[in-house]
Amino acid sequence: MRLWAISDIHVGHPENRDLIQAIPNHGPDWLILGGDLGETLDHLDFVLDTLGPQFAKLLWIPGNHDLWSRPGDPQGEDKYHQLVEACRLRGVLTPEDPYPLWPGPLPPGLEPGTSLYLAPLFLLYDYGFRPAEVSLEGVLDWTMEEHILCADERLLHPHPHLSRVDWCHARVAETEVRLSALPAEARTVLINHWPMRQDLLFIRRVPRFSPWCGTPLTEDWHRRFRAVAVVTGHQHVPRTDWRDGTRFEEVSLGYPREWRRWLGESPPTPPLREILPGPAV
Ligand SMILES: [Fe+2]
Ligand SMILES: [Fe+2]
Repeated sequence: MRLWAISDIHVGHPENRDLIQAIPNHGPDWLILGGDLGETLDHLDFVLDTLGPQFAKLLWIPGNHDLWSRPGDPQGEDKYHQLVEACRLRGVLTPEDPYPLWPGPLPPGLEPGTSLYLAPLFLLYDYGFRPAEVSLEGVLDWTMEEHILCADERLLHPHPHLSRVDWCHARVAETEVRLSALPAEARTVLINHWPMRQDLLFIRRVPRFSPWCGTPLTEDWHRRFRAVAVVTGHQHVPRTDWRDGTRFEEVSLGYPREWRRWLGESPPTPPLREILPGPAV
């Protein structure tokens, strides 16, 4: 029994849809869907109905694209809850559910009997990943100097919060309470669409996209909440890094023009990253 992860599968792209449909049955394994599955409720329905039968359990978190609202769509938290509802109809776990205990084999090096909780998080971003000399008020002027403006500014509504910063800080505060309530000796896998540390940003082609990439408030969460692994996406830069003995897995697939560079023209299936049991702790 294994825990796998993939994010940023963007099934609005037909090539990505084909890849997702090629994922074979994984028996008792679980799968993390790390956000940016698509842009609409139909995209989420497609992914859950395609992959639900292939895994024993799916865990879902939203990415920014999933939360976009087109005219007529619910906005902000209403859109988020619409997506959560689609997951619940199918028994898919979301950030709104109790954190499940991992029932499978532990990573080598963890004491047998250790409680390992899987924590799907929805934390958003607060524009905090920016140079110290750039103010929050001036951050969009700074990104626009290089003509960078994330489509979230038009499409990701903060309703009923006044801003995405407020929404992010509310999510961070309520999530801290829930993670702090876990047993003191328990270990975790933290799962969030946006990167959780600024030193793990690798968007070198568009450095001024960083304000939309997370919040410095989670910088030490891997230590505070005793994470074996931290799973994120959003950057479309798949890689593995280690900080303080915690494994950080960026598990994006990305757009066809991006994955072709490392997977070739027609890969048989998309790469799933093994999170558990994974390598030794
Ligand atoms: Fe993405
Ligand atoms: Fe994203």
